[in-house]
Amino acid sequence: MYATPYLCSMVIKNNVSLKPYNTFGVDARVGYFAEVKSVSDLKKAFRFIGEKEISFLILGGGSNVLFKNNFDGMVLLNRMSGIETIDESADFVMLKVAGGEPWPDLVDYCVGQGLGGIENLSNIPGTVGAAPIQNIGAYGVEVKEVVEEVEVFDLQNGQTHTLSNRQCEFAYRSSVFKTSARGRYFVLSVKLKLSKKPVINLSYAPLKKMFESRNIESVSIKEVSAAVKHIRKSKLPDPENMGNAGSFFKNPVVTKAELQNLLKKYGDMPYYPFGGNSFKLAAGWLIEQCGFKGKHMGNAGVHEKQALVIVNHGHASGEEILNLAMEVKHSVAEKFSVELEFEVNVV
Ligand code: EPU
Repeated sequence: MYATPYLCSMVIKNNVSLKPYNTFGVDARVGYFAEVKSVSDLKKAFRFIGEKEISFLILGGGSNVLFKNNFDGMVLLNRMSGIETIDESADFVMLKVAGGEPWPDLVDYCVGQGLGGIENLSNIPGTVGAAPIQNIGAYGVEVKEVVEEVEVFDLQNGQTHTLSNRQCEFAYRSSVFKTSARGRYFVLSVKLKLSKKPVINLSYAPLKKMFESRNIESVSIKEVSAAVKHIRKSKLPDPENMGNAGSFFKNPVVTKAELQNLLKKYGDMPYYPFGGNSFKLAAGWLIEQCGFKGKHMGNAGVHEKQALVIVNHGHASGEEILNLAMEVKHSVAEKFSVELEFEVNVV
């Protein structure tokens, strides 16, 4: 590994291991690698990519990506930092947060300031810039509920744009950044509208249960954040100890007719109304019924406490992890005639 003295402030490195930059801990290598801390870094990277005619990939915390192979192009690591209050009223605070800020730190900052809206999203690994990309969600809240705007750098034409909440086309674990504009935008900052008069959301049953002896008016966002951290810790593996990317699959959505068919055979199957004629199934339950919970396949495995999560037990390659995910997908399709979609981006 050596540094190319191509740019003054930003160093472009060659042939770098991505192991420290993906939470699966997969040891894939990349042709060129740079840490982007400013728009001028980004402009220089944009020129470099154009001159070399290489493909590129933007990484935040690397917590939702699986490297199947080495990557020939350039990885741009979002290291933009800063949290700024840009507007304030009696009820709300508008924060402009740089894309490279760690998401869990932002939640802790907001909870500490008494600003409500994202406390249910405590401890989700990753960066602020990645949060709108997959519209992160947990315990009854999705980030789309607080995102006002997303400021991006377009790596196709080198221009900066601002996308409104509507233009982000948010959906369940999806947005324009994962669909029609996939891989095109580097998220510079996200504007979030947070409440000075927080409304506590205990719609997720296990969370509600933790406060059942309490009047909801007396529950604080600090307590909700602590409860969410506690539930996450009891169910989800910490990437620091065991490589993983949270849910590997999305919960599948089926029609009422499909649901009724399944319920005839599997009366205890969990499901949730998903608007209109649609229902969400619990992928974790479907995978567990196929006998995968806690199963090892080489160095990869299905987590013993949450079957939606695929883990790296040691030195699993991206291919080993993907093979297990494919086997899970095929088994669920065979047993339930339900197609599981990956939530994780496979590169
Ligand atoms: N279940 C099983 N077996 C399992 C896992 C779950 O039977 O191995 C059952 C549970 O008993 C429950 C149902 O499935 O009846 C739902 O489980 P859980 O409440 O754990 O939530 P989930 O639907 O499996 C989703 C998100 C998680 C998020 C939790 C809590 C997706 C793909 N996953 O999981 O998000 O933390 O709800 O809100 O929507 C992530 O995206 O990385 C993630 C972890």
